[in-house]
Amino acid sequence: MRVWVLPSLLSADFLHLSKDIKTMEQAGADAFHLDVMDGQFVPNISYGLPVIRAVRSATDLPLDVHLMTENPEQFIDEYARIGVDMLSFHIEATHHAHSLVKSIQDKGMRAGVALNPQTPVSSVEHLVGDVDFILIMSVNPGFGGQSFISHCLDKVHKLTQIKNEYNLTFDIEVDGGINDDTAKQCLAAGANLLVSGSHLFNTDNAENAITMMRDVNES
Ligand code: DX5
Ligand code: ZN
Repeated sequence: MRVWVLPSLLSADFLHLSKDIKTMEQAGADAFHLDVMDGQFVPNISYGLPVIRAVRSATDLPLDVHLMTENPEQFIDEYARIGVDMLSFHIEATHHAHSLVKSIQDKGMRAGVALNPQTPVSSVEHLVGDVDFILIMSVNPGFGGQSFISHCLDKVHKLTQIKNEYNLTFDIEVDGGINDDTAKQCLAAGANLLVSGSHLFNTDNAENAITMMRDVNES
């Protein structure tokens, strides 16, 4: 299974973003994860289109934008135009998830649906044949540096069962509180996209940290 490690730029030094991007590229990152927060869907505001455009110009790695916003339909065209590769929205934020998945894909991006910790897997079962990936939040959305909520592993297990039962290929992404130890648990449960913010940006040796995350998959 293809395992990706995606540094979350929420934990980067915003005064030296291009330096941090280069550091993570050299450390072996597979893609960058970018959290867009609107102060409505989550109790925090992060960044939006101008910053993502700047990040796009600084790296050739894929960009994975995680919309933690109300009205996720609003800027789909702009994300596509910027060159975003993966775009996820929260199932709790829309009544039109299926058409939103299709419109993200029609614009050439991989479409993902994200679930807050309290949201059950059953809420996205109708989408499993259509989405490219499903993002399981393993902290309460809005802030980096929180502890992993381990009951979220049950949801990763459930999704893996669904994948196997119906022979599906969507990726399973886990976001929040990911370090060597929780990465191992997520991979064992069937996840293959690991988002990590504070753990990767607070270490002196990001290459080692990324390698450790991959190694746990091989052990
Ligand atoms: C949290 C964000 C995450 C965050 C993860 O709301 O969706 O992407 O940056 O940060 P850590 O790895 O520090 O929990
Ligand atoms: Zn995120």
